[in-house]
Amino acid sequence: MLFAHPVLERSRVNRKLMEGVRELEGVTVHDLYEVYPTFGIDVAREQALCVEHDVLVFQHPFYWYSAPALIKEWLDLVLEHGWAYGKGGDALRGKLMFNAVTTGGGDDAYHRGGYNRFTMRELLAPFDQTAYLCGLRYLAPFVVHGALRLAGEATAPAVAAYRGLIEAIREERLDLDRAQAAASLAEVET
Ligand SMILES: Cc1cc2nc3c(=O)[nH]c(=O)nc-3n(C[C@H](O)[C@H](O)[C@H](O)COP(=O)(O)O)c2cc1C
Repeated sequence: MLFAHPVLERSRVNRKLMEGVRELEGVTVHDLYEVYPTFGIDVAREQALCVEHDVLVFQHPFYWYSAPALIKEWLDLVLEHGWAYGKGGDALRGKLMFNAVTTGGGDDAYHRGGYNRFTMRELLAPFDQTAYLCGLRYLAPFVVHGALRLAGEATAPAVAAYRGLIEAIREERLDLDRAQAAASLAEVET
């Protein structure tokens, strides 16, 4: 799991979500801002980590309708031509990918008539298309809305749902067709 939070000490929700899956067997939590505080991404190391795993999860707070900057830098550098796409670029082919995101805005904001005007799936289209180009299967995002209002015990249902989802994927129990078509993985039975 590619985890990115620029100020982890102030995180209320992402930190809890991440801690809930960190100890699971087969899960690697790779904290990008901890490993690369000055953005000096080690491309060879990142590519090797990708190859070792079947599922890429980008877990992050939603920042300006997208991800924190280090994730963009990671995509720009790691997904090289001839490795991730283009001639001979099939290193990621067949793997699964999704975003696990927390938003300040509520569920009602992310609709045509809401103040954020677009759905989460629409806003995450660059990730969806990046996955498509690289031959990965892109699933619906796991979304926790209204994160600014969540604190303490109120995060528990989201933490349990996220953990259940990761376990279901690992045990190949998740219905991938549903997971691909859903608005959010939080709605898919695990
Ligand atoms: C720079 C910045 C940009 C943000 N952009 C958005 C946004 O586009 N949409 C949204 O719903 N929330 C936005 N937020 C709110 C964060 O998503 C929210 O603080 C975060 O999900 C809370 O998770 P945490 O407790 O793990 O920090 C933004 C916050 C910051 C600091």
